Amino acid sequence: MQGKRVYMDNAASTRMDEKVLEAMEPYLFEKYSVATSEFGHSMGIEAKEGLEEARKSIAKRLGAAPGEMIFTSGSAESSNLAIKGVMEANKGHLIVSDIEDFAVLHTARTLEKAGYEVSYLPVDEEGFVDPDELVDTIRDDTVLVSIQHANQEIGTIQDISALAGICDEAEVLFHTDATHTFTRVPLDVEKIPVDLVTLSAHTIHGPKGIGALYVREGTPLKKQMEGGFQEFDMRGGLENIPGAVGFSKAVELVAEDENRRLKELRDMIIDRVQEEIPDTTLNGSREQRLPQNANITFHYVEGESITLHLDMRGIAVSTGSACFSRSLEASHVIMGIGGDHERAHGSVRFSLGRFNTEEEVNYVVDNIKEVVKRLREISPLGKE
Ligand SMILES: Cc1ncc(COP(=O)(O)O)c(C=O)c1O
Repeated sequence: MQGKRVYMDNAASTRMDEKVLEAMEPYLFEKYSVATSEFGHSMGIEAKEGLEEARKSIAKRLGAAPGEMIFTSGSAESSNLAIKGVMEANKGHLIVSDIEDFAVLHTARTLEKAGYEVSYLPVDEEGFVDPDELVDTIRDDTVLVSIQHANQEIGTIQDISALAGICDEAEVLFHTDATHTFTRVPLDVEKIPVDLVTLSAHTIHGPKGIGALYVREGTPLKKQMEGGFQEFDMRGGLENIPGAVGFSKAVELVAEDENRRLKELRDMIIDRVQEEIPDTTLNGSREQRLPQNANITFHYVEGESITLHLDMRGIAVSTGSACFSRSLEASHVIMGIGGDHERAHGSVRFSLGRFNTEEEVNYVVDNIKEVVKRLREISPLGKE
């Protein structure tokens, strides 16, 4: 494609930062041995040191000990390991929210088919789980509760402290998917009693194919990936050391002023769209919202048509999560917050990253204004 290109689909994945590549390069071309060779030769030792340094610095950002951090291939694997690992080690009842990413939701359904009992918690119109409803749903045999830190589509940030506190009091394990919040929204496992946290690198300008699962010391977990004894014997298979080093660099590069800047850009999108385009609805909470997410329904038009027209103008946004957009079904998240099919299909997600600018935000809003106006003129959905 020629001409201007604006990428605002950073929740699906981000452009890797050049500094991340620089940090990874030595582990691709010089220190390319594997950690398991640390007892055989010095090249194994330097590879192992790189892996452990990365583990230490990622763990520190979460308030965790290095020994509580298991590297995985990404968020989907981390959530699979957390949920299947805990349920298979304990057996019993599982609770998840209705608007989780498929990595959690499909894992819960698979366990249900295998005979486990699962409860699905509804959310309110902004996407919040009601803490009282969680209290009422916890049973004597509840083993694990899995509720995301923030939603992948509508950006709503849960009151994780309250939800984890309830589980702690009930002596139930608590897992949270922090794919979109890690480094963007504070989460300190020393202060908040979460037992397992899913993390990913590619949502924060790190490499694809690397993530981690925080597992609080003493949490019973059944290994899911058989192989060698890597990752404290919790995940067999060769460690992705360049990936882990890149992940650690990506974490180091996210600073608070970047998060403040993203929040300003996000608010520019929301404010301009709401002021300048009639018949729009902001999906998710205005206050408790990811700094990098704006999700808006443009009534009387299809989100698919908007994204196609924006794509022709070089703009990349999405109508839902990356995991969702291959299907033409209505988004389970928008339906979960009480939306109907029209609202779900007319929703557009703008997700920001380090490389977006104010000029790009204005370019996107100017274009969406034009596109929505034209589409409404020919829309069969009509105002009536
Ligand atoms: C909240 C959340 N969790 C998990 C995943 C799965 O991540 P991955 O496919 O990178 O493993 C996604 C993917 O978009 C997501 O948005």
